[in-house]
Amino acid sequence: MYRLCFLIFLINVNYFIASPVQSDLASSFLEHNIVPDVLSVVPEEYLAVKFPSGAEAHNGNILTPTLVKDLPSLSWNAEPDLFYTVANVDPDVPSHDDPTKGQVVHWLAGNVPGDDILAGDQLMEYFGAGPAQDTGLHRYVLVVYEQPAKLEFDEPRMSNLTAENRYYFSIGDFAKKYNLGDPIAGNFYLAEYDDYVPILYKILGI
Ligand SMILES: *[C@@H]1O[C@H](CO)[C@@H](O)[C@H](O)[C@H]1NC(C)=O
Repeated sequence: MYRLCFLIFLINVNYFIASPVQSDLASSFLEHNIVPDVLSVVPEEYLAVKFPSGAEAHNGNILTPTLVKDLPSLSWNAEPDLFYTVANVDPDVPSHDDPTKGQVVHWLAGNVPGDDILAGDQLMEYFGAGPAQDTGLHRYVLVVYEQPAKLEFDEPRMSNLTAENRYYFSIGDFAKKYNLGDPIAGNFYLAEYDDYVPILYKILGI
């Protein structure tokens, strides 16, 4: 019994030493209710998310709309001959306490060959965080799914110059519809209103 406990102890210690990033990922996804509000399971892999501003998403850190206004680069363990779906959603619209219009899709790309996201189908082009004034912090979740094959997406193609067709989305329903299974990689950040939001609303015509 003692030996068994010691062995389990060693395995646990090893797990945390080997993958501090993964254990932070799981605890932050649970602590912020990304699971179950957005996903049913925590992705296994940490998705590296870096914005041109230099800011990086990291397990629910706080960024600003100004820092995330431009398309981020994402990296995960992508196989060059597989196709992926990448999504970025805000479940907290209009606010975390009253999410009646969420999720809003900020980015949705399918048939992404390896990690070359812009070579995939941009179903919904990227626009950054736009939390309305006085609605507190919103969660911005980024996830990657491995597709079973190249797919035909029966979805409207939306540019990032309009907010049309972005509301009342469910990444879970989308994944089910296309048999994407569980997300393989993920990350998220938090943001609230700043001076960039009215500029974004002007671009989107809202
Ligand atoms: C809008 O989408 C295009 C195509 O995906 C992208 O190149 C551009 O960077 C996006 N604009 C912003 C502000 O991210």
